[in-house]
Amino acid sequence: MENAPQYLMENKEEIERLERKTDRVALERQAAWAGLQAGMRVGDMGCGPGLTTRFLFEMAQPGGTAVGVDLSAERIAHAAAKHGTDGLTFVRHNLVKPVTGIGNFDFIWARFMLEYNRGRAFEIVQNLTRLLNPGGILCLIDLDYNCLNHFEMPAPLMSALRGITRRLEETADFDPYVGIKLYSFLYDLGFEAIDMMMAPHHLIFGQLKEVDAFNWTKKLEIAVVRSGYDFPEFAGGYRQFAEEFQKFFADPRRFTYTPLIACRGRRPGSIG
Ligand SMILES: C[S@@+](CC[C@H](N)C(=O)[O-])C[C@H]1O[C@@H](n2cnc3c(N)ncnc32)[C@H](O)[C@@H]1O
Repeated sequence: MENAPQYLMENKEEIERLERKTDRVALERQAAWAGLQAGMRVGDMGCGPGLTTRFLFEMAQPGGTAVGVDLSAERIAHAAAKHGTDGLTFVRHNLVKPVTGIGNFDFIWARFMLEYNRGRAFEIVQNLTRLLNPGGILCLIDLDYNCLNHFEMPAPLMSALRGITRRLEETADFDPYVGIKLYSFLYDLGFEAIDMMMAPHHLIFGQLKEVDAFNWTKKLEIAVVRSGYDFPEFAGGYRQFAEEFQKFFADPRRFTYTPLIACRGRRPGSIG
């Protein structure tokens, strides 16, 4: 795909990171809340390595089908090889562009994807809306104050974290606050039966779990380095920041969370 934008978290271990952090129980709770039912045709937009699409497909049985869409050729190839089967397919596409050729859906799911498309999030939601059957459900799930809530984080670390986030907003199209905007997207597009749900995400306290250590180490190695932030708070630059962050994060006294916000609604027949 020419001119495909660089996804902020792109790295050789991204498939592993996404698979390891996918919590099936949480996903099933969210999808059931949103109204996913057996027999539906499901679209998983920004599907990553396809594990979420597989779980949604299984929830849509008997009789349902699912299509996973992602801009990464590598993740789509992996998803197709590992999960592809009758009724479960994967397509490479950049969702900022209108999507054609994959049919319409009864249930569209977009989780942790809009946060990487700060400037084009509403356009993407418009594109997804056009793919819904009348009465079809759109479920958007993302985060607010993404990665920014930690107690009791030393002031230099907090200052650097805010600086990194600002850089990522300006240069990498990252939106750490997209969760708070989801309701307005569905409201402005005339969705009906809109409902909202909040849940904790990154709920980290006590002994650091292996899965969280891996996920946050990747965030440091990939997103923080890619931000280009120059770390005026630390004489030793990125290396010192990373060491002090890891030390803070490994301390069982720290408390970290990110609010997850889910918004679902039904497409009325009239949207063009
Ligand atoms: C953090 S992963 C989320 C994976 C999965 N949705 C989940 O809930 O675990 C974000 C995925 O969205 C994809 N993505 C980001 N922007 C996209 C776009 N504009 N079009 C298609 N896929 C996109 C990335 O390639 C990546 O695989």
